[in-house]
Amino acid sequence: MSGQYEIGMVGLGVMGRNLVLNMADHGFSVAGFDKERSQVEAMRTEAEERPVLTVESPEELVQSLRLPRAVMLLVPAGHIVDAVIGELTPLLDHGDMIIDCGNSFFRDTSRRERELGEMEIHFMGVGISGGEEGARYGPSIMPGGRAEAYERVRPVFEAAAAQVGGAPCVAYLGPGAAGHYVKMVHNGIEYAIMQLIAEAYDLMRRGIGLNEAEMSGVFGGWSRGAAASFLLEITTDILAKVDDFTGNPLVNMIRDEARQLGTGMWTSQDAMNLGVPSPAMDIAVAMRNLSALGGERRTAADSLEGGPPAFSPDRDEFLARLEDALYAAMITAYAQGMAQLRTASEKYGFGLDLEAVARIWRGGCIIRAAFLENIREAYRRQPGLPNLLLDAETGAEVLKRADSLGEVAAAAARLHLPAPAFMASLAYFDGYRSRRLPANLVQAQRDYFGAHKYERTDAEGVFHTQWT
Ligand code: 6PG
Repeated sequence: MSGQYEIGMVGLGVMGRNLVLNMADHGFSVAGFDKERSQVEAMRTEAEERPVLTVESPEELVQSLRLPRAVMLLVPAGHIVDAVIGELTPLLDHGDMIIDCGNSFFRDTSRRERELGEMEIHFMGVGISGGEEGARYGPSIMPGGRAEAYERVRPVFEAAAAQVGGAPCVAYLGPGAAGHYVKMVHNGIEYAIMQLIAEAYDLMRRGIGLNEAEMSGVFGGWSRGAAASFLLEITTDILAKVDDFTGNPLVNMIRDEARQLGTGMWTSQDAMNLGVPSPAMDIAVAMRNLSALGGERRTAADSLEGGPPAFSPDRDEFLARLEDALYAAMITAYAQGMAQLRTASEKYGFGLDLEAVARIWRGGCIIRAAFLENIREAYRRQPGLPNLLLDAETGAEVLKRADSLGEVAAAAARLHLPAPAFMASLAYFDGYRSRRLPANLVQAQRDYFGAHKYERTDAEGVFHTQWT
């Protein structure tokens, strides 16, 4: 049996509901289902006069859809996605399509596409970024899967996505898990930039003693400068927010233990698998893990307390350095992510167009920033660019701020304030532009203790030395 609704949605949590409302506002009819009755009720109330049908079961959902059916999932990543797919597939017909819009692990997406392909059901893995607000008024959408499957849902995505300069922040990215992979790396970059901003906040607070209102003012100024970005804007708002209960800045009332759902860790893990250096993302994950050791940290704070630092930076000079350092480090975070996408695209056969990736990240998503226009331009000029830092204009932007990055890293070290994302960004830049790294010594050590051989600078082939 079939009906008239164009899109099905399983998962009517706030993201799912908002995406349904967004699609309905653009004239698409949507049928929604959730196992939780309260979510179905909330959808019914919010839908008002829109072309939205709420249903009580997967059977009803499937029956309400136009053929061939397209069912979106916005449910938590992991086994729930498999469970929902397991419920839907017996009800679907050949040629129908399931579109997973959650933050699924890309290898799960590849497996699901294969398994559903055997049943002649199309499967798309689609990354959606922008949080609740984005889902409602225009996210960045990162679709992967079969190109012909995408063509069927393209009008819906193009209408629902954020628009920048009249262009929707969505593009078909490639086969299989291409979309979920790009979303994963988006989140890796997101982790790195969030950590950098958190370090800048700590350096201002503990390093030069600014209060929250002052810091909000500083971040507000920066968010109108070269580093203009969504994450700087929200940081400006967060630091200005006063707690209703205590009258303190709300940020001070929040426990300093960061949680994570896994996408940042997956990005780092896969960068390691691919042999792609991504130190800013690695350290961002590590620092969330370190922050979560709250009890241990408090014990160590007592037992390992040092004296006050014998260094106090000049406030205005330090703030100017910090702004430059943050912008340079943000660029290197994008460089690391884009380099990972390039290698992953080759290794996994995604055929990614990195200009398109930068283009669809310009609006709607969490890492949107004015600088993404420059990144898009860099890949338009040179689609095969091995690393963003090799783009002359981008490289120059970082180079002219490299001293500030060094000054901030050095100040953090002298103040004994942890700023590993700044330090890792500096090391990435300095490492990447080193004609000669000390890896020759590492090779010699490997050969010394393990006879692993080494290559010479003056001859082809591999060599082993009897070192003693
Ligand atoms: C986005 C966000 C979104 C979500 C993260 C949070 O692009 O809209 O990245 O996907 O907020 O998954 O991730 P963590 O819980 O791991 O910080």
